[in-house]
Amino acid sequence: MKRKVLGVLLSAVMTAALLTGCGSGGEAGETNAPAGDDAQTQDDAQAGDDAEAGDDAEAGDDAEAPAGSGKIGIAMPTQSLERWNRDGAYLDEQFKAAGYETVLTFSDDDSGKQVNDIQNMLADGVDLLIIAAIDGEALNTVMDEAKEANIPVIAYDRLIKNDAVSYYVSFDNYTVGKLQGEFVVEQLDLENAGDKVYNVEFTAGDPADNNAPYFYNGAMDTLKPYIDAGTLKVVSGQTDFDTVATAQWNTDTALERAQNVLSSYYADGTQLDVWVCSNDSTALGVAQAITSDYAGSNSVLITGQDGDEANLKNIVDGIQTMTVYKNVSNEAVVTLSLAQALLAGETIDASLVDKFDIECAYDTESYETSEGNKCPSFLLVPNVITKDNLQDLVDTGLYTMGDDGYLSAAN
Ligand code: BGC
Repeated sequence: MKRKVLGVLLSAVMTAALLTGCGSGGEAGETNAPAGDDAQTQDDAQAGDDAEAGDDAEAGDDAEAPAGSGKIGIAMPTQSLERWNRDGAYLDEQFKAAGYETVLTFSDDDSGKQVNDIQNMLADGVDLLIIAAIDGEALNTVMDEAKEANIPVIAYDRLIKNDAVSYYVSFDNYTVGKLQGEFVVEQLDLENAGDKVYNVEFTAGDPADNNAPYFYNGAMDTLKPYIDAGTLKVVSGQTDFDTVATAQWNTDTALERAQNVLSSYYADGTQLDVWVCSNDSTALGVAQAITSDYAGSNSVLITGQDGDEANLKNIVDGIQTMTVYKNVSNEAVVTLSLAQALLAGETIDASLVDKFDIECAYDTESYETSEGNKCPSFLLVPNVITKDNLQDLVDTGLYTMGDDGYLSAAN
């Protein structure tokens, strides 16, 4: 893989200013180490460890890192979507391999359950929390409890807008949507479309997920000039984020709305050219609706995000056109490195990821946990995958390709 670490060079002053992470309170003082760090080294069994099958890939990446000691709470949203199983498994494996004890939970997309799970972790004496929120706002109280207990929080993939959060590790969310939009522009050669009009629909993600508007805006900002110019036409007229959003990123919910749009606006034979879906779980529902309910016979360009196995199969079969791939094993590598530095009270800056072959920007401007409180973020770089470059996924070592050309998780 290419080595290209996009880092923002920080002056010593800026670096010092950032040592306390997102929150303005600066309770952690000059160090990132949690006060009262009473971590005991316990290398024994993991409570609540229900991680799915382990891929060993990249677990050894941080071989030169000192063995960690302490207990890490890893709160993932759900096992019902492929990616969170991967994230949970990679994080769990990599932290254990680095010497930490872990507590891993999945909360069935139930934010009340996630609050409970995190409260249990705090009661269990975790030294650091890594949280992919179901609904960031619903976590406010438990975030305050974490802050009170001086337990650092890394917002994982989805930002939690609370100053208890020290750092954010994710992909460049806006770029994910932008890549989807740019793909549509290129595939349809919209720059040279002349009088041609292409019909397009949109499906966005969960409004409770801080990422969802970023994805949607990235795609919409890229395509809006063509909508304004009349080259792209949203036949349903549904372009408002809340109208096209999909609660919990649920495949069936996306399927249902797509069926409604198709029967209301396309049943008369109107041609549908593109359906911009923010991610793979929604793309799966939209693809199903097109297969069962679309009157036309053209193949519809469908976008996605994640590289879920079912969607990669659809890409091979020509049912989905592209996905924006996010290597979540690398997201776990960056998270581990950040957690180690935080727990050791080390200075945290762009150099954190220098030792890895991972494209990752250190961004101190784009995200904030509350008005005016910037959240230092490590943002990895997503890539477009189509049927022409599936081999790139195999080259990560995380997938294998069967004789039928379909990809499955390597183990
Ligand atoms: C993640 C996406 C994922 C979606 C649904 C988002 O927060 O960034 O990768 O597809 O949640 O799980």
